[in-house]
This record gives sequence, C-alpha cells and structure tokens, in this order.
Amino acid sequence: HRHLLGIEGVSSDVIQSLLDRAEHFAQMGRSPDKKSSALKGRTVINLFFEDSTRTRTSFELAGKRLGADVINMSVATSSVKKGETLIDTAQTLRAMNIDILVVRHGASGAPHLLAEKLNCAVINAGDGTHEHPTQALLDALTMRRRKGRLEGLEVAICGDVAHSRVARSNIHLLNRMGARVRLIGPPTLIPSEIEHHGVEVFHDMREGLKGVDIVMMLRLQLERMQGALIPSVREYFHFYGLDQEKLALAKPDALVMHPGPMNRGVEIDSAIADDIDRSLIQEQVEMGVAVRMACLEALAEGASA
Ligand code: CP
Repeated sequence: HRHLLGIEGVSSDVIQSLLDRAEHFAQMGRSPDKKSSALKGRTVINLFFEDSTRTRTSFELAGKRLGADVINMSVATSSVKKGETLIDTAQTLRAMNIDILVVRHGASGAPHLLAEKLNCAVINAGDGTHEHPTQALLDALTMRRRKGRLEGLEVAICGDVAHSRVARSNIHLLNRMGARVRLIGPPTLIPSEIEHHGVEVFHDMREGLKGVDIVMMLRLQLERMQGALIPSVREYFHFYGLDQEKLALAKPDALVMHPGPMNRGVEIDSAIADDIDRSLIQEQVEMGVAVRMACLEALAEGASA
C-alpha cells in the first residue's frame, strides 16, 4: 500500500499532480454537483486522538464527495479509554476491511508505525510536532491560486515554529517547489537545527517581514509548552503578533494565512484575520476539502493497483 505520511520525501512531480487534481476538485466544489462515485465501495476511517475541526470535517466531506463510506471514530468514547493500545485499536479497525485510515496522534511517528503494521493505506492528519502533509498541500494550493505560482515566492512562517507540524510540512513543500522560506519568532520558539533546512531565521518581525509575498501565522501552542516557556500573551502580541503596522512592511500585495485554529489578539489581530482582501484563511479551509479529495483518490488508486 501507498501512504501519505509526510511531505519529506515526496517529489515535486507528485506534489504538482496532487495540486492539479485538487484544483479540479476545487472547481467541482463550487459547482452545484459536488459528488463523484470514484471511491464507491471504499471505506475510510477517521481516527483522531487529538482534537480537530478543519481536518476531520474536511476528510469526512472529501470522502463523501467521492462516494466512499466514511466513519468518524470518536476516541473519547472508544475502548482506548479502557486501555486499548494504538496498534490494537488500528488492528481492530483493519479487521473490518477498511481501505484508508486517516490518523491524527499526539506522538510524532504514530502514523508511520500504523503504516508498518496495517494492511491498508494510512494518511497522516498530524502527528505530534512532526508533519501535517495535507495542510502543506492545501496551503500550497491556496498560494498557487492567488499568486499563480509557488516558485520564487517569499514566504514568512511566523511564531511558534518549535511545536508546529504545519511549519515542518510547509518548509519541506515550499523548498521542494522553489519558494524561499523565512522563519520569524522568538529564539525559544525556533529550534536551532531548523536552520539546516534551507530557511532564513529572523527574531525581529520587522526585519523578517520586509518584502515577503505571504505571511503565514502560526498558533501559539500553549498546550505543548512547559510552564517556564510560556510567554506573556500581551508581550507576545507586541513583538510577534501580526498587526497592520507590521504587515505594512511586507509587499503591498502580500497575503495573510493561518492554518487555524486562531488565537485572535495573540498571534494575529482580529481585523487582519477578517480582512477579505488580505486574509486567505477561509480559502485555506475550502482548499482543504479539495486537497483531501485528491489525496484520497490517489491512495485509493494505489490500493487497487
Ligand atoms: N489546521 C488544522 O489542522 O486544524 P484542525 O486542528 O481544526 O484540524
């Protein structure tokens, strides 16, 4: 079986063809007839050990629009609560002859483990601080639609990079597709080894934002921080929150992105988040369904080959 466990290791040709196919589904999503029967008879299970609004709903919609049967497992009311392990849970689901398992887990590498143990395709819907591949693909599709290309774009990824699987997947994808990535944040939230990943690091937002095409804000992931590392929210917004004054340093036609969920007034000013001329946040969500349709279709084709 083929899997989608991360963007690292995925070729530019595969990224390109997933984005092209997702563009087709994006157009279909805006038409009155949103459904196809490409995955009729296939079963997709969403297994989320961490909370989600966007990813889980869009995988469900994506599967249903392709005609698959989609089951959302609620971990909170499952036998995981009685001590059943990750592998036993997944083996149990697999015994029901599922085709694709979509998994989100707090431990980096959990989807890789399942891919080794199970006889079905596995999609990583976010694992710990490691990768969130479909997020990077939907971000890329959104950028490509609005800027017409990825190559040569200057993209600033700002804030809590240390805890961000979204940042890691985006760095892999944008590097591979010829964009240039800058990381901006306090030293405590940018791991030093990340400088080896072909990115430029800035600790001063006013420096880092100069001349960028895309400003991608990240959520401050307080739930993954130890007490001593938690910054004061007011101070954080002052130095690293995106407001009009800081955004004015980017290119005049620079666009703002955020994977969600947002902390308004912490990493992003509410007026910028809601500015329909500058903010791509809603379009990112829309592209999430299209990208997940493309990924499900590609893996279902692989499974039948
Ligand atoms: N961006 C993202 O992964 O959002 P959810 O946590 O709501 O799925």
